[in-house]
Amino acid sequence: MRGLLLALALTLWGGAASAADAASVERGRYLAAAGNCVSCHTRPGGEPFAGGLGLQTPLGLLHTTNITPDAETGIGLWSLEDFRRAMRQGIAADGSYLFPAFPYTAYTRMSDEDIADLFAWLQGLAPVRYTPPENGLVFSIRWPMMAWNALFLEEGPQSPDPAQSAEWNRGAYLVQGPGHCGACHTPRNVLLAEDPAHALQGGVMTGEVAPGLQRPWFAVNLRNVKHGLATWTPKDLTTYFSKGYSMRGASFGPMNEVITNSLSQLRTEDQKAIATYLKSLGGAEYAGPVVSAAEAEAGAGIYKKHCAECHQANGRGNFLKAPALAGNAVVQGESSASLINVILHSPALAQSLRYGAWEEMPAFGKKLSDDQAAALTNYLRGSWGNRAAPVRAEQVAAQR
Ligand code: HEC
Ligand code: HEC
Ligand code: HEC
Repeated sequence: MRGLLLALALTLWGGAASAADAASVERGRYLAAAGNCVSCHTRPGGEPFAGGLGLQTPLGLLHTTNITPDAETGIGLWSLEDFRRAMRQGIAADGSYLFPAFPYTAYTRMSDEDIADLFAWLQGLAPVRYTPPENGLVFSIRWPMMAWNALFLEEGPQSPDPAQSAEWNRGAYLVQGPGHCGACHTPRNVLLAEDPAHALQGGVMTGEVAPGLQRPWFAVNLRNVKHGLATWTPKDLTTYFSKGYSMRGASFGPMNEVITNSLSQLRTEDQKAIATYLKSLGGAEYAGPVVSAAEAEAGAGIYKKHCAECHQANGRGNFLKAPALAGNAVVQGESSASLINVILHSPALAQSLRYGAWEEMPAFGKKLSDDQAAALTNYLRGSWGNRAAPVRAEQVAAQR
């Protein structure tokens, strides 16, 4: 009898434990999506999470690692403690320092429980035997990162702000922690650390405009200011997160993968929480030089001829064709890099992103000279209440 009871107790206990494990693994799967691990840790055509993607950094090409649980080439022999140290302090299991192209400066804010769930899920993936390519020599010198971390790493986890709602805190956590939005949307200082004084005010990065063609991009100002997200309602934001487009703007370039692999996979309440948090962020309105009336006028004819059909003469966009360019964050970007890319190379949508009835915007690089494209850009940046600095023809030429 006693043996039977013991067996029963053990079975029940085991059942509860494995249900808890399954729930933890499921939460981990969700966190991996929120953290967009797959976009960086998968090379083109390679197995998901096996690494090998080359990231363009100012120091050269840095390859992502294999984070499948293969014992030899992945993280199969890592303990939870090893993993926690990597996520919180940017230190690998062998004690070497990782470079912050791996956004541990954001992941450090994740809770202990979330890191454990994520680890449980990763350890349950099928192991893939694959060794990523060697990095350049400069990446073999890792100890300076110790000093960098001392200067710039603000170790987590994040503590909630009791003055704010639970929804706001959830949004702040997702944006600053797993979502690592600042990795692209915050400008970096000379030592390539995110500048906390300008958090989410827009950052310049490098990425593809077409396969193999690297160009600068501007990840827009995400604050609730006129040259940021002021015209976006929370509903515009959640529509954009789930579908990749709204009347205020659509995803293109490096934001495509963030939408496809991460934001669109989130639960509606989490998308709402991010919108609530972003809409609460004030900031300084743009106060720099602006396009003059004469500079804007020079591009008016080009806009009427090539763009008004879809975006409308008043720049308000057309529900059936294209988003608004009036009050648009890409158009008014402190850097015009993304705006020029869109005009020259088209938004080049991923196949997975097809914007409802909207016909794809063509590339205008062959139709417009550098001078014409600059004039057009200035028309957009100086019309309909938009305010931004003028663009020169050389800036267009540099992005062809
Ligand atoms: C923006 C690109 C990027 C994203 C997103 C990203 N990683 Fe990485 N990760 C890297 C790079 C690059 C390295 C290698 C850094 C180095 O060699 O110094 C790396 C290294 C790692 C390592 C160290 C592995 C080892 O063998 O040393 C772990 C663990 C890791 N990432 C886990 C994750 C997890 C989990 C996620 C998602 C929550 C994630 N990464 C998302 C770029 C990324
Ligand atoms: C890999 C870099 C990268 C990351 C990470 C990233 N973004 Fe972006 N994002 C961009 C770029 C580049 C643009 C400008 C191009 C565009 O509008 O699609 C952009 C544009 C946007 C826009 C404005 C779209 C428009 O047309 O005005 C929103 C909103 C946005 N991102 C939200 C987010 C949020 C929220 C996160 C974090 C969960 C995030 N982004 C993470 C690169 C990134
Ligand atoms: C056939 C219709 C069409 C024409 C013509 C067209 N566009 Fe677009 N445009 C679109 C669509 C659809 C999008 C949304 C796709 C995207 O951004 O990923 C878009 C997006 C944009 C964006 C990005 C806005 C944002 O925040 O996401 C800019 C800037 C833009 N167009 C400028 C122009 C300019 C300038 C011209 C004329 C040279 C032009 N477009 C011509 C359909 C068009």
